[in-house]
This record gives sequence, C-alpha cells and structure tokens, in this order.
Amino acid sequence: MQYVYSSKPNFTPREAAGEQAHAAGPPENDREKEDKMKSYDIALFPGDGTGPEVLREGVKVLEAACARYDIRLNYENFGFGGEHYMKTGETLPDSAIEDLKQHDAIYLGAIGHPDVKPGILEVGILLKARFALDQYINLRPVKLYPNVETPLKDKGPDEIDFVIIRENTGGIYTGVGGAAMVGTEHETATQVMTYTRPVVERCVRYAYDYARKRNRKKLLTLVHKCNVLTHVGDLWVRTHEEVGNADYPDIKQDYNHVDACTMWMVKSPEFYDVIVTANLFGDIITDLGAMIQGGMGIAAGGNINPEGVSMFEPIGGSAPKYTGRNVINPFAAIAAGGMMMETLGENEVAAAIDKAIYDALASGKIKSLSAGRMGMGTTEVGDFVASLI
Ligand code: IPM
Ligand code: MN
Repeated sequence: MQYVYSSKPNFTPREAAGEQAHAAGPPENDREKEDKMKSYDIALFPGDGTGPEVLREGVKVLEAACARYDIRLNYENFGFGGEHYMKTGETLPDSAIEDLKQHDAIYLGAIGHPDVKPGILEVGILLKARFALDQYINLRPVKLYPNVETPLKDKGPDEIDFVIIRENTGGIYTGVGGAAMVGTEHETATQVMTYTRPVVERCVRYAYDYARKRNRKKLLTLVHKCNVLTHVGDLWVRTHEEVGNADYPDIKQDYNHVDACTMWMVKSPEFYDVIVTANLFGDIITDLGAMIQGGMGIAAGGNINPEGVSMFEPIGGSAPKYTGRNVINPFAAIAAGGMMMETLGENEVAAAIDKAIYDALASGKIKSLSAGRMGMGTTEVGDFVASLI
C-alpha cells in the first residue's frame, strides 16, 4: 500500500539512482532474474531540511551496492516531518506505525524544522518510532576515516575506531515523572531514571554479541555513574558482570564512570573497542564521538530492534540553512545505509559501502567534511562514492 502523507514524494529512488536503475522497469529477459532476487522493503523518511538531499545520495549508493549482489530494494516514501506537521498537525500516527511494521527497515534523512517548536517533532516522530517499534539499541560507530580531520592532536584512524551501544528506549527517556506547584516558589519536578533487569540485560547481551562479532579487542566497557546513581548503576554493573561471566568468557569486561569516559575518549580513544551505556549517557557521549570522528557530516546511527524493524539515520540534524544548496555532506547518510544492510544481514553489501566510503576519503579528493567546503557538491559526492562500489 502506498501512503500519501506528502502530496508528492521528494524524489523517487529510481530517479536518485540515475543510470544505475532501469527507468521503465526491467526488460523482459531480466524479469525472471528479478523475480528470484532477494528483496527488502525499505520505508524512506526523507524528512526536513537537507534530509531529502542526503537520503537521495544514500539511496544512490545503496542501489549501486545492491545491484552488485543481486539484491533489490523496494521503497515506500513516508512524508512525515515539519512540513507535514504544519499542514496537518500530525506527527507520526499509529496507522503509520502499523504500516512501518510491514517493512524491513526505515531509512531516515533528518527531522527538525525551524518553524516548529523544539520537542514536538523529536518526541512525536523520532522518539515515537523508537518506542513504538521497540528499537532498544542505538548503535553509533565512532570511526575516523583516512584524510578526515579530527580535533584530537596526534590521533588517526588507528586510534579512533570503536562503537558505542546506547540503550535507546529506557532510563530517563521513559518520561516517568511529573511536576507540581508549577509557577510557585516551591515548584517541584522529577524525571525518573527507570530501568528493569530485562531492559538492561537485552542491551548488555546485544553489546557482548556485538563485541564478539566485531572480533577486535573483544573488550566491552560499561559506562555509567554507579558511584552516585547507586541503585540504577548497581543494576547495570551487576548485569554486565553476571551476563559476561556466564555467557561471554571470551570478552573482557571493563567499567568507566561517564565523566571519566569523556576524558578518555579525548585523551586515549584507542583504549576502547565496544562501549555499552544507558540512554542519556549514550546521547551525550555519542555527540562527543561524532566530533572526534570528523563531525556530524560523517556520523551515522542505527535505532535497532534486533527482532523487528530498525531505523537508520545520519546523526546530524536538518541543517535548514544549507537546504537546497547542494552543499550538505551526504557521507553520514551513506554510512547509515551501509549499517542498514549490515543489520539486515547483508554483510557483503555493507562491506562494499564501507570500502567505497573509505576509498572516496582516502583518494584525497574530498577537501573537507564540512558543508560547503567539500570541494564538490552533495550529488557529486554521491556519484563519486557510488562509482567506487
Ligand atoms: C539523538 C537526538 C535525540 C535524542 C533527540 C532529537 C530526541 O539527540 O538521536 O541523539 O536525544 O536521542
Ligand atoms: Mn543526541
């Protein structure tokens, strides 16, 4: 079923893929082959600002990589975002959640509009999707590619290469709390950091599995603040230890307080392999991670439900001031597409995309990762990466 929330899709994937796609469908003799091809249904959320521009390049690279491995992606465009909200008052309705459950993954550009009060779209779209689809993992790799500038002195790609696994639906984001006597001198408010053993345990297990699969240092560092948050911190510390001792003897365990972690991420990022942490701490340290890997232009994230429908996005926002100028950096969106394929189990496609990103940056032809200073336009970067697949 085709949802028509936006009056007209911002682009069609076939258009985005340009010459790599068959404009009028496959010729007769390709039909049989296409029927046997493995395929995935992808919900596209171009969203606001520069979202559609970066997603278009992401789709372009995905099409190039999937074509090589005989995989077909079917797309459906979802027009939610600031414009749709201003027209209709609707953020992300329950009916759309039901429709999203029928897809294999969600590929998102950006959500955020300068004319919409902060909080409405974040809560109504991003957090709603995370909660309603139980995307309980937020996977954010921190990887410095060659020729990418990092603000960290004397650190390079060998030192900056780790993964942060942020718990994505619990903790302080649950919204438990309230306010009383608002506006009086005794105004009081609470926002509760709530965690249950199952919610902590499923996240910690995902992180151990990830460290095992990644097969590097085989080190899982828990980041929390157990010296002060004695109740919730203790739950995380014991779960990390018990699960690790029982089922992951091959993975080394470590623990950092979150404040110390920010210090080590700057001073000795090479120390880390996989970090697992609670929702709010993960929100904060992944922005730091994005900066040390070269900024928002390259930072990708996945909101993952390992048993359900996951959502992949460039971490940077909608960048209204760069909208429509063909200057925004699409690398983060391209990397998010690779992460989507990896999560779908298509490791070869994911590796091909990662290698193309690596080769594009290693070539030295991209002058900077900042918007407007790349030395080429958004679409040219997409073409260049796709040509390296
Ligand atoms: C992020 C963002 C979101 C968060 C906001 C926009 C709700 O900062 O994805 O990191 O806090 O999780
Ligand atoms: Mn954040």
